[in-house]
Amino acid sequence: MSIIIWVVLLIICMISGYGFFELKMLRVKRYRIDDPAVPDSLKGKRIALLSDLHGIYHGKNNVRLFKKLKEEKPDYIVLSGDMINGRNDDEIKYAFRMIKKLKKFNVPVIYTFGNHEEKLRDIDLKSYRRLKRFAKKNIILLNNRAYCPDENRKVAFVGLNLPLWMYHGHDGNGLIKRRTDLIVKKASVKDCYKILIAHDPEHIDKYAKSGYNVCLSGHIHGGIVYIPFIGGIVTPRFQMLYKRAKGCHKYENMTMIVSGGVGWHDIPLRLLNHPEIVMIEF
Ligand SMILES: [Fe+2]
Repeated sequence: MSIIIWVVLLIICMISGYGFFELKMLRVKRYRIDDPAVPDSLKGKRIALLSDLHGIYHGKNNVRLFKKLKEEKPDYIVLSGDMINGRNDDEIKYAFRMIKKLKKFNVPVIYTFGNHEEKLRDIDLKSYRRLKRFAKKNIILLNNRAYCPDENRKVAFVGLNLPLWMYHGHDGNGLIKRRTDLIVKKASVKDCYKILIAHDPEHIDKYAKSGYNVCLSGHIHGGIVYIPFIGGIVTPRFQMLYKRAKGCHKYENMTMIVSGGVGWHDIPLRLLNHPEIVMIEF
């Protein structure tokens, strides 16, 4: 074998080795939303966004994750889906442990399901119902519901839980707008500053046109390998160099923050794409 092939193989091994190492390098990524429409009750408040945990531990019992979260002193904790992979009972126990620990922060913990929780409904309906019951009892489960944290009802968190086909297809029949209109009407939050929690960032245009001010998403895991200023290498829809793999994005009047994710699944690799707790300050 020629020396060039050996050198290429060595470089691939070194990059993969580093990518495996980077999985453990949890960091805090900060964003600031400067929007004149932000109500007084939200000014200065900080949201910790945790997405795509996929049953992963950062240290024993997630000690490193909770330590960093504690240091940040968030006013709200948002879980934007895929806390579990939905494959076995251990993951349900993981979700229960996480929920119990997050509850101890004594701030509103708001959880909206992602595609992996939805998959669990098909695989193991009993466990899916157990997870739902437990989340409802202990934290704020927002699956197609709204929640106003302030007495004056100037701010509303809206959790949009989309059917599994939407993670592969497109919203051709206006489901996002119809579902939003129904939630907004039912909860009487039409005039609120609306923070959407929606796992999949793909539908940014539909979210913006549905009247949301801010959208918190995840799902793409930063594209596994992230090329700064260009995007993530690959997405669950097999899009290459996807711009919204993570980061802050604007669409009309809406700001979307996409988390690169806390965990991973199937491919244990991250390059230039640390696992992250996202902190959003208003
Ligand atoms: Fe996902």
